[in-house]
Amino acid sequence: MELQNQLKQMAAKAALEYVVEGEYLGVGTGTTVGFFITELATSGKKVKGCVSSSEATTRQLLAYGIPVCDLNDIVDYLPVYIDGCDEIDGNFCMIKGGGGALTREKILASLARTYVCIADESKLVPVLGRFPLPVEVIPMAVGVVSRQLKALGGEPKLRDFTTDNGCKILDVSGLQITDPVALEEKINQIPGVVTVGLFARRGADVLLLATADGVKESAAL
Ligand code: 5RP
Repeated sequence: MELQNQLKQMAAKAALEYVVEGEYLGVGTGTTVGFFITELATSGKKVKGCVSSSEATTRQLLAYGIPVCDLNDIVDYLPVYIDGCDEIDGNFCMIKGGGGALTREKILASLARTYVCIADESKLVPVLGRFPLPVEVIPMAVGVVSRQLKALGGEPKLRDFTTDNGCKILDVSGLQITDPVALEEKINQIPGVVTVGLFARRGADVLLLATADGVKESAAL
């Protein structure tokens, strides 16, 4: 297995200590989360049910026989949410949505008492923005939202992809995100934007960062 995947798997395994048996668990999307689901399935730990952030995650959970719950059927919070990221900064603000699941991920993040981010060391950056920022958009608004994003200094590119919500994604490059909270709020205000992949107002609480020297665990200040 290539080194980056080995690191992803290490972070995923470390997240098992945050799984609360007998409780609901929020589960993100992506390859790192894919490793986590495999670890969860083989760990013998039993949760009451998982709330999934994407159709892909749901399929993987069900393939392992792990129960998946509808968010509408459970109470109004998740004790723990485990997910990866595309970039994370020193304040645990993140860029997410490389896998296209940002809207459901943001809903689950907003309900989490503890948001555990699992990542390999390449994801930790001093300033967010090297990874193009995903923005989920109502299809009819792709043009108008693109123009607004250009006015903010970004270069949007339409991804050849339709989200689980039937929407489109603009990947915005060229942004130096020095104030992630302000930019998240600004992009959220553009009519036609469903979700911006900046997770700054609600960032992670815990980072499990896999490095060549092992998994480093840190909590948000
Ligand atoms: C999906 C995400 C993922 O967390 C992000 O893309 C990281 O993916 P991976 O674990 O495959 O590197 O935000 O929408």
